[in-house]
Amino acid sequence: MPARIITIMNQKGGVGKTTTALNLGAALAELGRRTLVLDMDPQANLTRGLGLSHEEVSAGKSIYDVMIDHKIDLAAAVRKTAWDNLEIVPSHIDLSGAEIEMVSMIGRELRLKRAMGGIAQSHDYILIDCLPSLSLITVNACAAATEVFVPMQAHPFALEGLGKLFEVLDLVKAEINPELDLTGVLVTMFDNRTNISREVMDKLGAHPRLAGKVFKTVVRQNIRIAESQGAGVPVIHFDKSCHGAEAYRALALEVEAQRAGGGAGATEATPPATAGPEPSSPPAATPPEAAPPATAG
Ligand SMILES: Nc1ncnc2c1ncn2[C@@H]1O[C@H](COP(=O)(O)OP(=O)(O)OP(=O)(O)O)[C@@H](O)[C@H]1O
Ligand SMILES: [Mg+2]
Repeated sequence: MPARIITIMNQKGGVGKTTTALNLGAALAELGRRTLVLDMDPQANLTRGLGLSHEEVSAGKSIYDVMIDHKIDLAAAVRKTAWDNLEIVPSHIDLSGAEIEMVSMIGRELRLKRAMGGIAQSHDYILIDCLPSLSLITVNACAAATEVFVPMQAHPFALEGLGKLFEVLDLVKAEINPELDLTGVLVTMFDNRTNISREVMDKLGAHPRLAGKVFKTVVRQNIRIAESQGAGVPVIHFDKSCHGAEAYRALALEVEAQRAGGGAGATEATPPATAGPEPSSPPAATPPEAAPPATAG
């Protein structure tokens, strides 16, 4: 079976896109799935988060070379990581200028798709980390993918941004990639002490376009996740028993179950206090960092 190619997108910044690409990728690799993560953000946070330095990236090919040079295949830019089954195509700051360089390129929306070659045949998952904008780079990611995951914070403004995201997805689907489907919404950095978080969760579950698409797994705020990125190590290897690690492992199992269940919508929205990594604890009393470790979801 060819890889599931999943674009992780949200035009809102700082919602957990990179964290999800990195840690879901690591957790799928741990399950033995051949996983490639693709960093399409010139900030290169995913690249750094898997321990690759700017110098190491500069010494070889990156996604920038792939995007601007049609003679370079994605396979030429794939690097191994320190973890079994986990590979990366790194990003480089030069990617920030790629959009302008691509302006006169014929077929510029399909550059990534064309560069994929046969790589989907040799992997189980390809996860694409997008930058926080609905730009040509993001359109390339959507054109090359089969699915979209949207990480979001349980914040009222997050729902407002969904309309714009659907607009772009509908356009890409109509014009470039009819096979593209939104198959997962992941709530990240959840803080169950606030009523507003719970209200937003309920609204998400009730959204007509998200029915059955919100992952049961909810990733709570966990400082270990941020620390692991600074250390250049996926959280499941940095601190295997922290609740952030347990959440991303649970998410990987859910994503696997989607495949077994025939693709989209194998999950349903459930209040986080009763499902996934969050044990029900008195909401106001326990700071998210200090909550007891989750029982694996
Ligand atoms: N569950 C979490 N708990 C605590 N910190 C988190 C969690 N998830 C992500 N973070 C931190 O929040 C910040 C933003 O996360 P991340 O970089 O994944 O977002 P992003 O959507 O990729 O941002 P951008 O739009 O800039 O690419 C990072 O510093 C990350 O380490
Ligand atoms: Mg990011």
